[in-house]
Amino acid sequence: MTTNAFSSAPLLTLSGVNTFYGQAQVHFDLSINVARSHIVCLLGGNASGKSTTMKIILGLVKPRSGDVSFDGASLLGLTTPQIIRRGIASVPEARRLFADMSVRENILMGAFVRNDRDAVAQDLERMLALFPKLGQRLSQRAGSLSGGEQQMVAMARALMSRPRMIVMDEPTMGLSPLYVDRVLELIRTINQEGVSVFMVEQNASLALEIAHEAYVLQTGKIVLSGSARALKDDPRVRDAYLGGAEAA
Ligand SMILES: Nc1ncnc2c1ncn2[C@@H]1O[C@H](COP(=O)(O)OP(=O)(O)OP(=O)(O)O)[C@@H](O)[C@H]1O
Ligand SMILES: [Mg+2]
Repeated sequence: MTTNAFSSAPLLTLSGVNTFYGQAQVHFDLSINVARSHIVCLLGGNASGKSTTMKIILGLVKPRSGDVSFDGASLLGLTTPQIIRRGIASVPEARRLFADMSVRENILMGAFVRNDRDAVAQDLERMLALFPKLGQRLSQRAGSLSGGEQQMVAMARALMSRPRMIVMDEPTMGLSPLYVDRVLELIRTINQEGVSVFMVEQNASLALEIAHEAYVLQTGKIVLSGSARALKDDPRVRDAYLGGAEAA
C-alpha cells in the first residue's frame, strides 16, 4: 500500500466546506477528519446535510468554498471516476443496485475502474468468503434480494474497487435487527483489513458502537465531535440522538 510522506495526517479532510443547492445553504464551514484506518461516523437528523456530505466527498456535488482532500491531495476538480481511482468507494443510500442485473453483475460493477482481470476474479472469490450468503445467489436478480442481502451486495461491490476508504450512507437503514448486527460486524471486519470508513447514520447508538470518532451535524453545522466513547456518554448526544434514558 502506498502512503505519502504525511502518513500520520488524516486520510480524508474536509475543511471549511460551504455547500449550496441554489440559494439554500446546506453546509456551514464544515470541517471533518477521517484518520487512517479509523471508522468515523457523521450523525444527524433528517435534512441536516449528511447525504450531501457524502456527495461532496464523491464529487457528485461541488462545494462553493472550502477544500476536500484525500491522502494529502485535493479532490476538488476531479470527476467521480477519478475520485474512485484515488481509492474511495461508496455504498450509497438505499444501496442503489441495478435491480434487473444479477448479483454477480452488480458486484463486478465495482471493479469497473480496474484492468487486472485475474485479480478481479480472485477478489470476487474473496467477497464470497466475506459474504457467504451471496454465493448461492450470484445468478439471482439483485432486485429480488432482501434488504439485508442487497446491503451485502452493495458492500461487496464497493470493496471490488480495492478502496482505501469506503463511504456509506445509512448502511443499517430499514434492515431487520439480525442484519443490522451482521452489517455492523462486516463494517468492523472491513475496517480491520485496513479500509477506512466514513459512515452517515441517524441511529447514533448503533454507529457509536463501532465508530472510533463521530461528528454531529445539525442543520449543516458540526455542533459536536470527538471520540465515539466520549460522545456515547455525552448528555447532549444522549438527549438528542440516543433517545435519552430509553436508549440505556
Ligand atoms: N439536489 C438537491 N437540490 C436541492 N436541495 C437538495 C438537494 N439534495 C438535498 N437537498 C436539500 O438539502 C438538505 C440536506 O439534504 P441531505 O440529503 O444532505 O440531508 P440528510 O441529512 O442526508 O437527510 P436524511 O436524513 O433525510 O437522509 C435538505 O434540506 C434537502 O432538501
Ligand atoms: Mg440522507
